[in-house]
Amino acid sequence: MGLYKDNLTVAIDGYSSTGKSSFAKIIASRLDYLYVDSGAMYRVVTLHCLERGLFDNVDEPLFEDIINELPAIEISFRRDEEQGLNLTYLGNRMVENEIRSMRVSGRVSYISTIPEVRAALVRLQRGMSKTGGVVMDGRDIGTVVFPDAEIKIFMTASPEIRAKRRHKELIEKGLKEDFEAVMHNISERDRIDSGRKTSPLKRADDATLLDNSSITIEEQMIWFFETFKEILNNGKSSRD
Ligand code: DC
Repeated sequence: MGLYKDNLTVAIDGYSSTGKSSFAKIIASRLDYLYVDSGAMYRVVTLHCLERGLFDNVDEPLFEDIINELPAIEISFRRDEEQGLNLTYLGNRMVENEIRSMRVSGRVSYISTIPEVRAALVRLQRGMSKTGGVVMDGRDIGTVVFPDAEIKIFMTASPEIRAKRRHKELIEKGLKEDFEAVMHNISERDRIDSGRKTSPLKRADDATLLDNSSITIEEQMIWFFETFKEILNNGKSSRD
């Protein structure tokens, strides 16, 4: 049983590398809720398409060719109890690190503009919340996947801070990447994610804004649980 109720939906959206996943994971573990990283699902589709050679010699493969691959892509999250981590799988292969590479990051926004890809992943995401409380992070969780979520947060931070965080994360994973390339990738993804026709990244009208440019993760947690209580008690936060 969670601290509050065991079947609420917490939708966390926002720009790339705002620390949504770290924030969402801690909340899920404190509430004893399921955590779902929806971005990982778009990344798995991208990895599969790369491995099938769809991006060989082209930056933007035909939508049709990508859509044809969808039935062959099996995405799951499995818990590694030893490491205390949720790991992402493509079929029976653990792809957690591969999907974070720049090879994938550079192409995932294109893949996520395809309406059929979005429809398939949204269906999967909705299915994952059936058993109880869920914390899901992404770009369209509060607007499209769970428009009725009880708690909606929209995260932002300055582009420089986001690039520094993502760069540090990649280095820690042993993926040597140039800082400028990371910075460029983040601003490109912001542009494509916010500008696409289907489910663009935007703050839901009823989402509470969190700018974490200069606050620690502990401070974010204090903020979240105060906001959470306020929303549950009053139906709306006064912190907007
Ligand atoms: O959260 P992330 O950076 O791992 O997401 C990777 C990409 O996937 C992101 O640039 C846009 C796309 N995405 C999306 O379109 N909708 C989501 N709900 C989650 C991610």
